[in-house]
Amino acid sequence: MSIHLAAQPGEIAPHVLMPGDPLRAQWIAETFLEDARQYNTVRNMFGYTGTYQGVPVSVQGSGMGQPSMSIYATELLKDYGVKTIIRVGTCGAISHQVKLRDVIIANTASTDSAINRLQFHGIDFAPGADFNLMRYAADNAESRGLNAKVGGLFSSDLFYNGRPELAMQLADYGVLAIEMETSVLYTLALKYGAQALTVATVSDHILTEEATSAQERQQTFSAMVELALETVKQNAEAQPSH
Ligand code: HPA
Repeated sequence: MSIHLAAQPGEIAPHVLMPGDPLRAQWIAETFLEDARQYNTVRNMFGYTGTYQGVPVSVQGSGMGQPSMSIYATELLKDYGVKTIIRVGTCGAISHQVKLRDVIIANTASTDSAINRLQFHGIDFAPGADFNLMRYAADNAESRGLNAKVGGLFSSDLFYNGRPELAMQLADYGVLAIEMETSVLYTLALKYGAQALTVATVSDHILTEEATSAQERQQTFSAMVELALETVKQNAEAQPSH
């Protein structure tokens, strides 16, 4: 057991999918995993372990925002020896390079959070995704005919941001969309010698003010979860020691 997770040693698989919403974790476990067992209900931040086509996989809610993500990711990586985390999330587009329902495969994550600055005094650390996870995801997305784009995310601490022009400046530098968890996830995975990737569907477009319906969100989210599970499987088969 760790402070926020009730799993016994060995109950969490080396490969973990992390949606923000714990009910999405439940839905992923019930829809895509075989023999899924719940290992965590602490704070209703549900976690499950099952198998996907024979590969042990866990699904753990992260909650919203970097402080919450950092608690669960640290405990998975440090206390349970997790080797691979794929965040499956949604994001708001800030670039005309992406459309509603596209999947973003995040190679980098800029942030307005003080989390990195607190750890790297005077250095702007550049959190990046694991290259192998990124290329498996990009190849899988292409073969599945998904509209996927590799690019940068902006992990903001503010959902209701009073200074949208700052996000627009990031868009001028190629950043594609805003979400709230990836920067600290990538930093922590690098710290613990693990692999991390975020795949995120565009649920709303900040430039055009379009938003997906609940049904569209469910469909695109489902296709992205399958992409993430295929990526986990391919990665696990390529590195059996993990
Ligand atoms: N901002 C932050 N996080 C998000 C957004 C957004 O517009 N859309 C989906 N996640």
